[in-house]
Amino acid sequence: MEPSQDEPLVLRGKILTFKNNKLDYEYWEKGVLLIEKGFISQVGNHTDINYPQNSKVIDFGQDLIVPGFIDGHVHYPQMSVIGSYGKKLIDWLNDYTYPEEIKFSSYDYAQSVARLFLSETLKNGYTTSSTFCTVHPGSVDALFYEAQRIEMRVIAGKVLMDRHAPDSLLDTAQESFDDSQELINKWHNNGRGLYAVTPRFAPTSTPDQLEVAGALFSDNDNVYLQSHVSEQLDEVDWVADLFPESSSYLDVYNSFSLLGKRALYGHGIYFSESDIEIASATDTTIIHCPTSNLFLGSGLFQYEKLKDAGIRLGLGTDIGGGTSLSPFATMKAAYEIAQFNNYSLSPLESFYRLTFGGAHALHLENKIGQIKPGFEADLTIIDLSSTDIIKNRMRDVEDLSEMLFTQIMLADDRAIRATFVNGKLVYEK
Ligand code: GUN
Ligand code: ZN
Repeated sequence: MEPSQDEPLVLRGKILTFKNNKLDYEYWEKGVLLIEKGFISQVGNHTDINYPQNSKVIDFGQDLIVPGFIDGHVHYPQMSVIGSYGKKLIDWLNDYTYPEEIKFSSYDYAQSVARLFLSETLKNGYTTSSTFCTVHPGSVDALFYEAQRIEMRVIAGKVLMDRHAPDSLLDTAQESFDDSQELINKWHNNGRGLYAVTPRFAPTSTPDQLEVAGALFSDNDNVYLQSHVSEQLDEVDWVADLFPESSSYLDVYNSFSLLGKRALYGHGIYFSESDIEIASATDTTIIHCPTSNLFLGSGLFQYEKLKDAGIRLGLGTDIGGGTSLSPFATMKAAYEIAQFNNYSLSPLESFYRLTFGGAHALHLENKIGQIKPGFEADLTIIDLSSTDIIKNRMRDVEDLSEMLFTQIMLADDRAIRATFVNGKLVYEK
């Protein structure tokens, strides 16, 4: 069923795509889209589209075609850490996560986990991920090689840690500079790969290493930076002890020139008004990771406040603090957390966050996240009646919004009918 690269490909089905960050969208009940050489070249109502005669046509009937989902924060090496019982962040890192990450000194191990991660990611309808690797450069090579085989867009980088972790997971400021620069030269803009300088979080880097991260971030064109900020109260207190001269956790990163465009921070739960202002003024991206925040008992993300401040916001699975690679589980948890803050996160807004909004959060909104001529053909096909309970619930659904909400609340990977990356079918149920 896999189309050849050059054969035009036509997909039919219901089609939903957002047009801008005001949640304006296009929805075609009987839609058609044309893919040529990995790009979307036409989209619209089935009566309006003329496609080349030699096109291969796949009719998805009543299924919904959406832009491929975007995971803004995940740790591919933590596939085996998912569902580790009973700890909060710092103990969870020490007792479960660091011991697992030590195994990534083996390239073969890293490769096998990268394969599992990518296949599960596609099976859940995600087509772009921004992922942490481990401190080992081989863990970065393994991920990029495997992603390149399927032409998948990934942002990834070697974790920098030079204190407060097991010895075998520590590098030094100099090693982290040398290794990261070599990896940037090798992988940044190589195919669809993009590199992220990746200091794990302020407690595991010395000031010297944070300086190195700042230099790598500013001296390499369009490179990303990813880290964590203000996830749990104990962690926030620890950072205050380690960096007494800084006015807040976010301010630590600011003082090492680690904020700005393409700086992606997971969590940001315990932000003060001034942190929100700084994130907004520097155009720093925050990735909300709701299943992780619930699992680790981190706290309730102030979605509405950060959104109203104009901060670029994405959603992340944050595996293995997060408990699911499903976009539905992520949207469901985001809805539930917002409920506690008296904000009703609409289903359209949730789908926006995982598509156009996710692309905007990663500064890729001109390439992915929409079904529009000229955009890269990363697409996810959703079976809207994937289980008996969904089928039953869908009978009462009256509009698009209710249809999406039913999926958010009840669907899982069984709802993902197919996933296309760069115009190619890479997963089919
Ligand atoms: N903070 C520092 N490292 C991690 C990690 O691996 N996961 C989460 N959720 N938070 C972190
Ligand atoms: Zn994380």
